[in-house]
Amino acid sequence: MKTLLILLSFAIALPAADLIEHAHAHPDGKAAFSFDASAWQNSDATRHLPIGVFDSGIGGLTVLEALLTLDAFHNDTLRPGADGRPDFERERFIYFGDQANMPYGNYSAVNRTDYLRELIVKDAIFLLGRRFWPADGKAPQFTKPPVKALVIACNTATAYGLEDIRQAVAAWKIPVIVVGVVEAGARGVLESNTEGGIGVLATVGTCASGVYPRTISQTLGLAGKSVPVIAQQGSATLAGAIEGDTAFPESVSAYAMKEARALAEAYCDSNPTKPLQTIVLGCTHYPLARSEIDTAFDSLRKEEAFRDLIAEKRLFVNPAEATARELFRELAKARLRLKTAETSALEHHQFYLSVARPEQSGVRLAADGSLDKDYKYSRLPGHLEIEDTRNIPLTPALLPPASLKLVRERLPAVWKALSR
Ligand code: DGL
Repeated sequence: MKTLLILLSFAIALPAADLIEHAHAHPDGKAAFSFDASAWQNSDATRHLPIGVFDSGIGGLTVLEALLTLDAFHNDTLRPGADGRPDFERERFIYFGDQANMPYGNYSAVNRTDYLRELIVKDAIFLLGRRFWPADGKAPQFTKPPVKALVIACNTATAYGLEDIRQAVAAWKIPVIVVGVVEAGARGVLESNTEGGIGVLATVGTCASGVYPRTISQTLGLAGKSVPVIAQQGSATLAGAIEGDTAFPESVSAYAMKEARALAEAYCDSNPTKPLQTIVLGCTHYPLARSEIDTAFDSLRKEEAFRDLIAEKRLFVNPAEATARELFRELAKARLRLKTAETSALEHHQFYLSVARPEQSGVRLAADGSLDKDYKYSRLPGHLEIEDTRNIPLTPALLPPASLKLVRERLPAVWKALSR
């Protein structure tokens, strides 16, 4: 095993190698950060498994809303076009929000993307496994179903963890599909077929990784298209403000204006020849503030400096919708999609959320019981004996009032499933 770990460390950058080895060493899935390796032995049973979706918190519920409501294909013929039936009507989803460890977008600013990458692979392992914690109980339980697909609903997690998860799934030799929100978003840009420049609004971490400009350039290049100017702007405030976090006291419109201005300035600094036309909403929360962002660009156009460099009509790319389409295609390609008369092994969608685990020795908590900020951002990868958070079933009562309001008012399909 030691030799295997050394070999893996060369082929796959740590920390994924540590977790790959750890899961190999615990094939019954009883240990933390491991899963039952025998779960996908029967291919017909695999098809009936639910689909896992994860995010750093509740923002990814916007992606789940898109998954629950997408009607872009004919369910029986798989042809493009709406047929009045949700495309995933037979499927069930398991959603996981790693709320205890978020914001993911801020790990890069403190040079802790190594730990962030470990967290992201742990998210995938949680969804693959049966192990979860009851809301109040001293021992984990093992009745959560495994999944047949993993949707990385978080832009930052896709930026830092998509390749690790793909490598891990290949190393474990499990037939699980992995779809990330960034590749889907880049495909959304391609399909939008516009001529103008591209602006990406995302977290600080996503922008620092350069994943959107890189993936959009590759996607356009592979399709034989020329690559226009791509500017990006990373925000440390907009997602929190959209969630109603009191640490961000100004209105969503005020934060949206600040980020739109910064993006427009970055765009102008890149010496573009065409106006900024396509805006990628590269953070889970931003589709919820689309109209505020659009209004901000409208008022920027009234300024002399921006008038000719911002298109009169912008086109917004919402990677959530593109991800839903991508998942449909991938499931169909792998013959893992449930057909009209079939039912999932899971009766209802399930939701989980991480919370701090005070029983873990060495853990430091804030006054409200969450992980202390300094503790959170100073952790090192490679300590798989430490379980300082627990993944428990998410119920509406666990959501902070502002998030609850957001889900109830803006994500009706998710709310219906969550408040059942
Ligand atoms: N879900 C994250 C994303 O889409 C935003 C929140 C965070 O930083 O954790 O990038």
